Amino acid sequence: MSFTGLRSIVLCLGLLALPALAADKSTAPYLAAAPEKPTLLQMLASALKPKSAHPAAPEHRPRIRQAAATRKPKASSTPAATEEPAALPTTVGAAATPPAPLSEADPAAKGLALFNDVSLSDGGKASCATCHFSTGHTNNKTYVGLDVVADGDPNGRNTPTLWGVGERSVFGWAGQAATLEDSIRGIIVNRMKGPEPSKETLAALVAYVRTLNYPANWQVKDDGTPRDDASAAVKRGYELYVGDGGCGTCHVLPSFDKKSRDDIGTGGKFKVPTLHAVASTAPYFHDGRTASLRDAVKLMWEVYAKKMDSRLPTEAELDDLTAYVGAL
Ligand code: HEC
Ligand code: HEC
Repeated sequence: MSFTGLRSIVLCLGLLALPALAADKSTAPYLAAAPEKPTLLQMLASALKPKSAHPAAPEHRPRIRQAAATRKPKASSTPAATEEPAALPTTVGAAATPPAPLSEADPAAKGLALFNDVSLSDGGKASCATCHFSTGHTNNKTYVGLDVVADGDPNGRNTPTLWGVGERSVFGWAGQAATLEDSIRGIIVNRMKGPEPSKETLAALVAYVRTLNYPANWQVKDDGTPRDDASAAVKRGYELYVGDGGCGTCHVLPSFDKKSRDDIGTGGKFKVPTLHAVASTAPYFHDGRTASLRDAVKLMWEVYAKKMDSRLPTEAELDDLTAYVGAL
């Protein structure tokens, strides 16, 4: 079996752990939203297929979002990727066209290999996948450098998911990096204490992380509004989100984030993070200060109410708003 095949299986098995991981948290909406997993046999078969270097399960295939047609060109599927890569054919308004499989010559396929390569870190201590566990998601831990610290440690930074990272406009909790290249270079050199990465290494990692998308969502549409068959709690929660909760003023629909940074009293200015897939990214905030999504939602409403001198939520409203946010 080729090394690539073996690695694919290891990644696939890692993926199997995701529901278990998510089940610890209040993730019923997230679990319900996850599409059916392929059987182990199917995954092994696809891992063994020659030239299919991308082990992504269905939910990580590039999802055609409404914004896709207006997106800036991001990655190239040819080896001649330059600084201004051409758009991936799969993102250009082609809802019916399945994504092309990545070939070994594709920078994204090279990026996947690098993503699992511990030699990017000093002493081979960690790869990107150590922290961005389960196909670029998060291992739900808070770090200083490569050391796990207690959630809520003021110097700690909670591992964000890389799903949907290609749609973000600033990177790092403090929004310190303006491009994915800068962000990833900083992580390799400063956090992982690895050797200065080559231009090709950075380009390949960027190409790979841009292929990571959010799981399909059966409760909420791409514009952020609930689907007709969403639960009543999710529908009520949406009204609070855009209404009295004030959430939509910072976590702006449809991306649920904002370019600018805000000081909401958590110890400095931080970017407004997206809320997509947030049900499975606990603990919350830059330092992981709250373990439950409901507590994070409660803290945020209190921040907004204080700022606007507006009312606090009832317990039932908190449940509804958490149901909506947890379904994103
Ligand atoms: C020790 C755990 C760890 C490792 C290893 C790691 N990351 Fe991260 N990653 C984090 C944390 C924590 C943050 C938030 C950093 C911050 O806010 O300063 C982050 C942030 C990011 C971001 C910015 C995401 C956003 O939305 O702001 C990208 C992109 C990223 N990592 C990619 C990578 C890549 C690629 C690698 C491998 C070269 C990697 N990471 C290795 C923990 C890790
Ligand atoms: C004034 C702007 C602002 C408003 C209003 C706001 N947020 Fe936030 N939100 C932020 C910022 C900034 C952060 C990140 C702070 C940090 O990491 O310390 C954040 C973080 C969060 C997080 C944690 C995300 C994660 O990945 O850890 C959740 C959940 C959240 N907000 C939900 C909400 C909800 C629900 C509302 C409405 C009740 C709301 N926010 C209103 C700015 C805002």
